[in-house]
Amino acid sequence: MVEHVPDKPFALLAELTYACPLHCPYCSNPVEMDNFRNELTTEEWQRVITEAAELGVLQLHFSGGEPLQRRDIVELVQHASNLGLYTNLITSGLGFSPRRAEELRDAGLDHIQVSIQADEQALSDRIAGTTSFERKHVAVDLVKKMGWPLTLNVVLHAQNIDRMDKILEMAAAMDANRIELANTQYYGWAGKNRTELLPTRDQLDRAEIAVRDAQAKFGDRMEIIYVIPDYYSKFPKPCMDGWARRQFTVIPNGDALPCPTAHDVADSVGIPHANVRENSLGWIWESSPLFQQFRGQDWMPDPCRSCDRREIDFGGCRCQALALTGDAARTDPVCHLSPDHGLVEAAVTAANDPTRPHNAPMIPRPNPSRIRSPLTLE
Ligand code: SF4
Ligand code: FES
Repeated sequence: MVEHVPDKPFALLAELTYACPLHCPYCSNPVEMDNFRNELTTEEWQRVITEAAELGVLQLHFSGGEPLQRRDIVELVQHASNLGLYTNLITSGLGFSPRRAEELRDAGLDHIQVSIQADEQALSDRIAGTTSFERKHVAVDLVKKMGWPLTLNVVLHAQNIDRMDKILEMAAAMDANRIELANTQYYGWAGKNRTELLPTRDQLDRAEIAVRDAQAKFGDRMEIIYVIPDYYSKFPKPCMDGWARRQFTVIPNGDALPCPTAHDVADSVGIPHANVRENSLGWIWESSPLFQQFRGQDWMPDPCRSCDRREIDFGGCRCQALALTGDAARTDPVCHLSPDHGLVEAAVTAANDPTRPHNAPMIPRPNPSRIRSPLTLE
């Protein structure tokens, strides 16, 4: 294989723990979470953050699971801040107490993104699998009170997308600066619940109208980011902005991956996992086999190999190609030019079947007590 000399990575997603008080059925965390209990220690994360800064990373996104479940989140933010990194906390809002908020502000946390499930309590709590709606509102108020800009993130699916107008009204009432409306990506637990989660074409049409109306109504007051689900697109998304091209992820056990769900890709092609306990981030980024595997264009099959869009979407998503075809090296089946596109069409046809039950029960992400480590809160 040709070794590509990569550009510097721009961003690191630090998935500190898979522990989480919520049980969202669209979670992209691995289905086999028990394999990742051996979480990095505070000192190990601090070394990772230092190496990331040395490698050129400018943005550090703390995520999980729920990053506030880690006892050392303030220390880690402080460490990143001392190195001049832009720090972002991606949280459910649970565990964001006034004391923690003050500590995080004093540690230099730059930005917070709070996930929202729906605009009404019963639906929100049902999707989250736990009572959390009120606590999210308290957390959001605290974010504003402490002076951070507020970004909300809503994962959209068949069971909440009809509430789009109300969700946007709620976001405006919360004085959100930005709301990201992200359609579910079918990895991890979401892959298991795809039948129940995939919206219909009518739902998407209505949602787009609601977004346009809200953009006209709220203007510059609230930035609204909406991306249609790739199952309904002609072309795939440029996943991760290209494999191991601009960003990477370190997961709770220290494995470094080109994207949060690339474990399965590594296993499918028989590549060993590179772990920050044994390897420097510099070596992992530049030379580790998994990062090299789909970097650049040499790996591309037809039709991507000769396609004009190959530098725009990079052949789509490797994890999606694997999940749908069993081969991570195929063109993303979302692409209408892919020989496997029928797999996506079949899923879309099933989603639009008028006899499909609405609001069918989904498999919740499991109880986090099974994956607690000594560093996560009780
Ligand atoms: Fe993208 Fe490949 Fe489809 Fe071309 S053929 S649009 S490069 S996925
Ligand atoms: Fe892994 Fe797209 S999510 S490459």
